[in-house]
Amino acid sequence: MSVPWFKSLAIFGRELVSNPRPMGAACPSSPGLARRVARMVGRRPETYVLEIGAGTGAITSALLRHCVPPERLVAIERSPSLVKLLRQRFAGVNIIEGDACDLHRTLERAGGLDLKRITHVVSSLPLRSLPPAQVEQISKEFFKLLAHGSHLVQYTYNLRNGSGEVFADLHRHASSVVWLNLPPARVEVFAASRAPGGHGVFNGRHSSKFALRPNTTAANATHRQ
Ligand SMILES: C[S@@+](CC[C@H](N)C(=O)[O-])C[C@H]1O[C@@H](n2cnc3c(N)ncnc32)[C@H](O)[C@@H]1O
Repeated sequence: MSVPWFKSLAIFGRELVSNPRPMGAACPSSPGLARRVARMVGRRPETYVLEIGAGTGAITSALLRHCVPPERLVAIERSPSLVKLLRQRFAGVNIIEGDACDLHRTLERAGGLDLKRITHVVSSLPLRSLPPAQVEQISKEFFKLLAHGSHLVQYTYNLRNGSGEVFADLHRHASSVVWLNLPPARVEVFAASRAPGGHGVFNGRHSSKFALRPNTTAANATHRQ
């Protein structure tokens, strides 16, 4: 069902006023940022993509347009009113109300999803504004998921350092700044393994544009950019 943009924006605004820390952004992601995230994921008709912190669905719609059919997308969101909005907007997508701090149990409870088939985890979680204990718990949950070989696509408003500090134990395979967003954002791709192969993060010409040099670790890549 199509939901008017002003209704989405009003729900986002209400959430921002009542829960500023988990919202962590003044407005939903721009279409440019959403497209860049989708390009980092690539076309994945046969695997599953897990989106965390789907909000009003700005990234969700780009993932559906460019990456996966609805039945291959699983979205997690903590706010009940945003979950209701997402379910109205995206028929066929598995939208789960849950907390990323409790990611594995949330997915288990939802049932029926083989975690090994998730090739990409797309996170919009505002890691800079969430309490440190929550960020630590979330990164533990992410590491467990990435151990199956999937990749994490995370954006941040920290243009200089990205999310490298939070994910210091992961390898950063790609990084790119999107200026047409409020505020501008850095999109990064992380994986547990050094090899950019795995499930195949990059395809076609996107790889050369965004990929870091081979053997570049997250830590030293951060300083170079
Ligand atoms: C910066 S907004 C991003 C919304 C949307 N993905 C976008 O890009 O416009 C962050 C979203 O993460 C959700 N969120 C924050 N903490 C969460 C958690 N622990 N578990 C699940 N969702 C969470 C918030 O409710 C919010 O919708």
